[in-house]
Formats: sequence, C-alpha cells, structure tokens
Amino acid sequence: TRAQPLKGKNVLITGGPTQETIDPVRFFTNHSSGKMGYALAEVAKELGANVTLVSGPVQLDTTSGIELIEVTTSEEMFEAVTTRFQNQDIVIKSAAVADYRPKHVSKQKLKKQDGPLVLELERTKDILKYLGEHKEQQYLVGFAAETENLKEYGKQKLNKKNLDAIVINDVGNKNIGFKSDQNEVHVMTKNGLEKDIPLDSKVEVARNLFEIFIKDMAGETH
Ligand code: PMT
Repeated sequence: TRAQPLKGKNVLITGGPTQETIDPVRFFTNHSSGKMGYALAEVAKELGANVTLVSGPVQLDTTSGIELIEVTTSEEMFEAVTTRFQNQDIVIKSAAVADYRPKHVSKQKLKKQDGPLVLELERTKDILKYLGEHKEQQYLVGFAAETENLKEYGKQKLNKKNLDAIVINDVGNKNIGFKSDQNEVHVMTKNGLEKDIPLDSKVEVARNLFEIFIKDMAGETH
C-alpha cells in the first residue's frame, strides 16, 4: 500500500472552466477540460485526503470517494469555494475562471440586429485573491496560465494573491496546458523554492506537485 501523508487532511481542488451567461442560449467560456483539476483530486485521494472537487462544466468522471460540487458560473464557484474554505488544509485552484462576464444578462434570447453588437463586460470576483486575503492555516496554491513572461507574471500572482505556491502553465504551447493529457509546469513557492516539473501525464505532474507542497508545508524545502 502507498504512503498516505494526507490522511485526515481536507483538500479542496477547483478545476474546469466557468461559463458566463449572455442570454438563455449563449455563454462565454474557455478551453479548460478539467483534466488537470481531476488529476489533482485523484492524487489527493490517493494520498489519503478528504477531497472536495469544485468543478465547472466538464466531460469527465470522478472516482468514488471524492466529493464533487458542480458549478457553472464564476459567481457559483466563488460561493462553493468560499463557504468551504474555513476547514481546509490545502486549497489548489486549477480552474480557469472567467475574468469578465456580461454586465447585463438578457432574460430573452438576444435577437439579431443590423450591424455589430456591443456587449459590455464586467469583472468577476477573483476567488483566489479573496482566499489569499482570508487564509489562516490553509496552504494555498494558485495556477497561472500564461503565454509570455511566464516566471515574471507567475511571481507577481504568487505575491499579489498571497499564495504559498504558484504553478505556472505555458498555455501558448498546444501540447501542454488546456485540454491535453500531458502537462509540464514550473512551480514557485513563497519560501523561495523553484522547480521545473517535466512533461508527463497530468496525474504524474499532480504527484510531483503534491510531493513539493507536502515538503513545503513541513518546512523541508528551505
Ligand atoms: O483543464 P485542463 O484542460 O486540464 O487545463 C488545465 C489549465 C491550463 C486550465 C490549468 O493548468 C491552469 O493553468 N489553470 C489556471 C487557469 C487560469 O485561469 O489562470 P489565470 O492565470 O487566469 O488565473 C490565476 C489564478 O487565479 C488561477 O488559480 C485561477 O483559478 C484564479 N482565478 C482567476 C480569476 C478569477 N476570477 N478567480 C480566480 O480564482
């Protein structure tokens, strides 16, 4: 049997995209498949944790023993995550949350009109930033999906959102990141550890990530 270093620990993972409603038949979303979030949830369970997976709309199955909370919009994800935050030991936000949503949600299907249509967008709540501002004992991990200046933007997110660690994902590379079965990431921790996790399946990348987080929580990385 495998070692279960997270036995008795509560771990909350977010995964997948959010969908932001435009009208009864339309929404904005992104390319997240949920594979990275589901892999993290599987591995957390494998390591013995009580796992909650807050997931946007995806086409994946979870194995039994993982509490699945399905949400659609960023606002629903905010509620689902913040109301469960207090008793978590580790929170990992791999979800691709929309930064903007339509300011007005039309109750009726929008009709075609002559000429272009302009939709006004407003900012959504930044869930991760809120968690960083309210965290106590929780080890808080964010993801950064970037297409340029990866390490610089990643480090900014680590500091600005008061995280314990950030996982930087080069989403300009089609073979990794969104939708792919494999990933390759760069991790930075608040304690100053930096590590490249080489190309591998998302489950194997998740195993490598948890190894780092568990060591970091125990103060063994600095
Ligand atoms: O789902 P897959 O197809 O497997 O793809 C995996 C992935 C590419 C989506 C994943 O590895 C990844 O990089 N997730 C982060 C996507 C993202 O939204 O990154 P960001 O740099 O825009 O956001 C930074 C962090 O803030 C993220 O942890 C995000 O969850 C969080 N955030 C962002 C906006 C918002 N309103 N609330 C948030 O909590």
